[in-house]
This record gives sequence, C-alpha cells and structure tokens, in this order.
Amino acid sequence: MKFPFGVLPLASFRTQKEAEETLALLEEGGLDTVEIACRTPYAEEAIAFAVKRFPRMKIGAGTVLGGEQAERVAGAGASFLVSPGLSEEIVAVAEREKLPYFPGCVTPTEIMRALALGIKTVKFFPAEVYGGVRALRALSEPFSGVRFLPTGGITMETFPDYLALPCVAAAGGSFVLHGDVAENCKKIKRFGRQE
Ligand code: 3PG
Repeated sequence: MKFPFGVLPLASFRTQKEAEETLALLEEGGLDTVEIACRTPYAEEAIAFAVKRFPRMKIGAGTVLGGEQAERVAGAGASFLVSPGLSEEIVAVAEREKLPYFPGCVTPTEIMRALALGIKTVKFFPAEVYGGVRALRALSEPFSGVRFLPTGGITMETFPDYLALPCVAAAGGSFVLHGDVAENCKKIKRFGRQE
C-alpha cells in the first residue's frame, strides 16, 4: 500500500463537523490517506461518513481491537485496518475482506508472529517509547523484508528522521493535525518522501 509523502495522518473525531473540516484540509493538502482511530463513540460513524463524503480519499480504521470491530469498520467501508497489537481475529477478517492489516509489533517475537501470518508491514507503536529510529534501525537488520509504520510520539520535527530509514513504510501520527493543518501538509510535501 502507498502512503502519500510517506506520512499517515491519524485522526480521532468526535463529531461529523470535525471530521468534515479536518478531512477537507487533508485532501486539499494532498494527504489523502488517513487513519481514523476508533477511540471515540463517533469513530465508526466517522469512517462511514468519511468514505461517502470523501470518495477520493483512502480511509482506514485505527485502534481496531478485535474481530467484531474489524467487521464493523470493514462494513463501514474502511480500506485498511490498523491495531496497536497483533490480533489473529483481525487477521482473519482482513483476509476475508481483502484489506491490508497493519498490526502493532515491537519485539522480534511479535514480528516473527506477524511474518508467520503472512504480514510484512507492521505498525511500531508507541514508537518513541520503544526506541524510535534507533530501535527500527536495529530491527531492520534481522528483518530485512519487514516494513514498519512507526506511530506514537512522532512530531512535525522528527518525522523526516523516520523517513530516512528505508525500512519505514510511513511515519504515522496525530502530529499532522496539530496546529495549522494546511501548513503541516505543505511541510510534509516538502520534507516527505518524493516517490
Ligand atoms: C497511535 O495510535 O498510532 C498513536 O496513539 C499515535 O500517537 P501520536 O498521537 O503520538 O501520534
């Protein structure tokens, strides 16, 4: 899966108004692949709304914690699934629905479990707490075929450090939405991946 400029914005919405305004800014800014975290009572509705209202955007579901929730967000139209840890229930739903699934893995054992399940891109969360760029550089030695989606504690200042690592598929996080979103998008276009 491709992530524009190597960045995955992570959004958490409480209302439709909030979702509409934020997603419009992201789409306008060229960051049209977004993870909506299932952390608010409105989250699942937000995904369904976003899929309909912004048909050109790629809307994924984040903080998916189990199989039933994965089924609901897939039904709402999510086009990829992300979770903080690895869930075999979610793997099963993702396979059935043919959706990419990025499970959170931070230890070599967890990464090996993901590989055994056929998953080659994993979330690395919370990235800064688990060693950030240094940890990813070390993990990429034995796991040369694995790509990482670090999130957790990344900022507008530090995201380019993550993108300097070839093992990083994208730097994810709420940092894109902190402050002036339009300005952040411009900066990401400038300092993000240019592929
Ligand atoms: C996640 O679920 O990926 C993280 O909570 C994102 O962390 P951030 O808000 O520090 O970017």
